[in-house]
Amino acid sequence: MGWGLRNRIARMFPAGSGHSVMLAVDHGYFMGPTRNLENAAATIHPLLPHADALALTRGILRTSVPPTTTTPIVLRVSGGVTILKDDLSDETITTSIEEAVRLNVAAVALSVFVGSPHEHQSLANLGELVDDGEAYGMPVLAITAVGKELEKRDARYLALACRVSAELGAHLVKTYYCDGFSKVVDSCPVPIVVAGGPKLDSIEAALTLAHNAMAEGAKGIDMGRNIWQSEHPVAMLKALRAIVHEGATVREAVGTFHAASVVPPPASR
Ligand code: 5RP
Repeated sequence: MGWGLRNRIARMFPAGSGHSVMLAVDHGYFMGPTRNLENAAATIHPLLPHADALALTRGILRTSVPPTTTTPIVLRVSGGVTILKDDLSDETITTSIEEAVRLNVAAVALSVFVGSPHEHQSLANLGELVDDGEAYGMPVLAITAVGKELEKRDARYLALACRVSAELGAHLVKTYYCDGFSKVVDSCPVPIVVAGGPKLDSIEAALTLAHNAMAEGAKGIDMGRNIWQSEHPVAMLKALRAIVHEGATVREAVGTFHAASVVPPPASR
C-alpha cells in the first residue's frame, strides 16, 4: 500500500483506540428521503463533530456538508437502482475516481451483492474500483449489501461475501453483525466495520450489537438508522463512541446515552 492510501485509512481510524465510529447517511441513493434524513443537512450538522468519518453520496456531500469540515469522507460511488425494484443488485459505478479525488475524500465505497442476480457485475465493479483507487491512493470500502433479506444473512454467507471482497482487493469491508460474527472477522484479512441495519427496538439492542461486534473483532462501526432515527441522535453517537473507543460495557454506554440526552434546565436569571 502506498503512503497516500495508508494515510487516508489512518484518517478514518484515529490514533488512540485505532477504531472508528463512522456515520452512514448514504441511504437516500436508493431509498430516497428516508425517515429523519429528509433534510440531510439538518441531520448531519449536530452529528458531524462526533463522527470519525461520514459516509454519503456526492450529492449530499456537495449540498449538505460544509467544505470547511475536517471529518474524513467515505464517498459512496455505486448506485443505479431504487427500492421500487425487487432486485436491488443491478448497480454500476456512478461516481468516477477523479471526482472522488476532486472531492478530497478519504475512501470510496460500493456495494457488492454476493449471491444476487447481479453478483458478477457488482464484483467486477469492485475489481475495477480497486484498480482505479490504487492508481490514486484511494482506499476502497466494499459493502456486503443484503438487499431486502438481512434476516437471511448468516455467518456463513457474510464470511463468504467479506472474504470475496477482500480477495478482490477491498481495503476495508462493511458488513452486518450476525451470530458467529467472529468467524466472519477471522476469515477476512482486511478490517471490518459493522452496519447497524434497520432501527432496532431499543437503545440497548443497538448498543449491544455494537458492543458484540467490537468484542468479536470489528475495527469499528459504520452506522446510520440506529443513530439518526433515535430520539436523541447525538446521545446515541456518544454512547457508541464510549463502546468503540473506550471499551465501555453496554450498561456504561446506556448511562452515557442517558447523561447525554438530558436536556439542561433553562439558565436562571
Ligand atoms: C446503505 C448502507 C448503509 O451505509 C449501511 O447499511 C449502514 O447504515 P445502517 O446502520 O442504517 O444499516 O450501506 O446502503
